[in-house]
Amino acid sequence: MSTPLPSLPAFRSRVVPVVVLQEAAHAVPLARALLAGGIDVIEITLRTPCALDAIAAVARDVPEMQVGAGTLLSADDVRRAQDAGARFGLSPGHSPSLLQAVAGAGLPFVPGVMTPGEVMAAREAGYQLMKLFPATVAGGLDMLKALASPFGDVRFCPTGGVNLDNLAGFLAQPNVALVGGSWLAPSAALRAGDWDQITALARQAIGACKG
Ligand code: 3PG
Repeated sequence: MSTPLPSLPAFRSRVVPVVVLQEAAHAVPLARALLAGGIDVIEITLRTPCALDAIAAVARDVPEMQVGAGTLLSADDVRRAQDAGARFGLSPGHSPSLLQAVAGAGLPFVPGVMTPGEVMAAREAGYQLMKLFPATVAGGLDMLKALASPFGDVRFCPTGGVNLDNLAGFLAQPNVALVGGSWLAPSAALRAGDWDQITALARQAIGACKG
């Protein structure tokens, strides 16, 4: 029997901010601002040179924030993210070598999918939570409803095109566990150090989840 995959860390928020940071120094105040607004999980994408330092800073200084590394594309990304302190990983897709790397590392992981075949491959590898990416391009709610019937044991985190206006609709869909999106950390607010705006956006999102 294969070893069960490690579970994601526990967090309360059903909204996952997807963050592209230009400066590692933004990471800790951003994490604190999101926590103040009720969001205790963050995906820091490996799309900028400072991403690993940003992950390390949050893991070290804001332990109550569950920090995940996003945009994991290779085995090397997996190793670097884990070394930096990421508690889980996410990817826009998945490949055999990436799945092998995360399994070997014992890193909790959310693979990305956009087609039924990709869902089947991730499911065969033992995953039951997958990132539907890019969610609205993939068909949004209609796609999630269509996937629910053949894949009754799979839950999704739609990401890509999710925002304050449509998040409640996604979260009301029974096979949606979480949603992800970049609107919670706008680059202008990060540049300006406007952490109050980020706390307000987080509160608004949490309010929309409850609604
Ligand atoms: C991304 O990869 O940039 C994320 O999925 C976020 O997409 P969004 O900007 O549409 O929220």
